[in-house]
Amino acid sequence: MSKYWNNKINSATPYVAGEQPKPGQKVIKLNTNENSYRPSPDCSDAIKTFDVGALRLYPDPECTIVAEAIAEAEGLLPDNVFVGNGSDEVLALCFQTFFEKKGNTDLPVLTPEFSYSFYPVFEEFYDLNPKKIPLREGLEINSDDYIGVPNCGIVIANPNAPTSRAISLTDIEKILKANPDSVVIIDEAYAYFMEPYETAASLIEKYSNLLVVRTLSKSYSLAGLRVGYALGSEELIEGLKRCRDSFNSYPVGRLEQAIAAAAIKDKRYHEWSRGEILKTRQYTTDELRRLGFDVPPSSANFVFAKPPACISAEKLYQNLKAKGILVRYFKTEGISDRLRITIGTMEQMERFIQETEKEIDDAKDS
Ligand SMILES: Cc1ncc(COP(=O)(O)O)c(C=O)c1O
Repeated sequence: MSKYWNNKINSATPYVAGEQPKPGQKVIKLNTNENSYRPSPDCSDAIKTFDVGALRLYPDPECTIVAEAIAEAEGLLPDNVFVGNGSDEVLALCFQTFFEKKGNTDLPVLTPEFSYSFYPVFEEFYDLNPKKIPLREGLEINSDDYIGVPNCGIVIANPNAPTSRAISLTDIEKILKANPDSVVIIDEAYAYFMEPYETAASLIEKYSNLLVVRTLSKSYSLAGLRVGYALGSEELIEGLKRCRDSFNSYPVGRLEQAIAAAAIKDKRYHEWSRGEILKTRQYTTDELRRLGFDVPPSSANFVFAKPPACISAEKLYQNLKAKGILVRYFKTEGISDRLRITIGTMEQMERFIQETEKEIDDAKDS
C-alpha cells in the first residue's frame, strides 16, 4: 500500500510468476514451461548480421517482417496478424479491447476454472466480471458448458494450462457458433505440442469473433525475446492496434523483430524440437505412471501429475527444490494435489525421474 499509488494499484493482485533461479545458481528448471532446446541457429545468424546502426531509429510498429512470416506460415494475410511484446501483453490488450461489463448488465468473461493464472489478474485489473466454468472429469473442458451462458467474452487456453488437456476444433467451433456476439480468445501458447497438431487459426476466415493468441516463448524457445501475436479477422486486429497505439506504438524492438522472423521461417528446426519434446513427454509420462503417479495424457510441453498417496505434491515439490530441480506447485484448492512439470531434455528428465523415484522410495519406507 502506498499513498502515492492510485486505488487500482493499491488494490491490484499482480500475477506471481514461477520462481527464477538467482544468477549463477545451477538448477534443472522445469517450472515455467520454457523450452530446454536452444532457439533455431538462424536466430544467431540474424543477430550476427543485424545492423546495430539501425537501432537509432524506432522499430516498425506493425512488425511487418514478423507479421509477413506468420501470415505465410498460417495461410493468412498480414492484416490478420497482430504482433506484441509477448503473449501476456497481447492478452492484456485483448482484455482491454474486447471485454466490458456492458452497462449495468455485469456480463462475465468466461474462463475454465483452472487455467492460466494471468486471466483473473487481467479481469480484476480491467474491472471485469469473472465467471469460472468448472472442468469435467479428467480435467476436461466441455464445450457444452460455454453454450447458453450469457457473457461479454470467452478465453480458453488450448491446450489448457496447468492441466495440459486440449479440446478439439469441433468443440471450439461449437463455442464460436453459440456466441456470435462475443470475442472468443483461444490461447494457443502450447498448441504446437498437440499430437496431431491442430490450430483454431484454420477457422479465422469463417468466424469474425475468433482470436487466436500465440507466443514464441514455448515452441520457438524464445521466452527471453518477448514476442507473441494474435491472429483474427481484420476487424479484431484493427481493434488491438487502436488499443496498442493508445499507450505504446512500438512494443517490439528492431533486433527482436529480426530474430523472431528468422525463427518463424525455420520450420524444420521448429518441427525437430517439437519431435524431441514429444518423445521426452512420452518417456516422462510412462516413467511417472510406473512410479504410481496419475498423469492425464498431455497435449503440451508439460505434464500435470498427481503423486502416489505416500507423498504430497507440496512435499515432493519442496524436496526436489532442495535437490536443485524446480517444478511448479500451485497451492490452489482443487489442484494442490498435483505438480506441473515442464518437459526438458531427455537428460534433464532422466535426472528428474531418478530423484523422484528416490523420494517415492524414501516416503514408502518412512
Ligand atoms: C497459457 C499461457 N498463455 C500465455 C503465456 C504467456 O506467454 P508469453 O508472455 O511468454 O508469450 C503463458 C506463459 O506461461 C501461458 O502459459
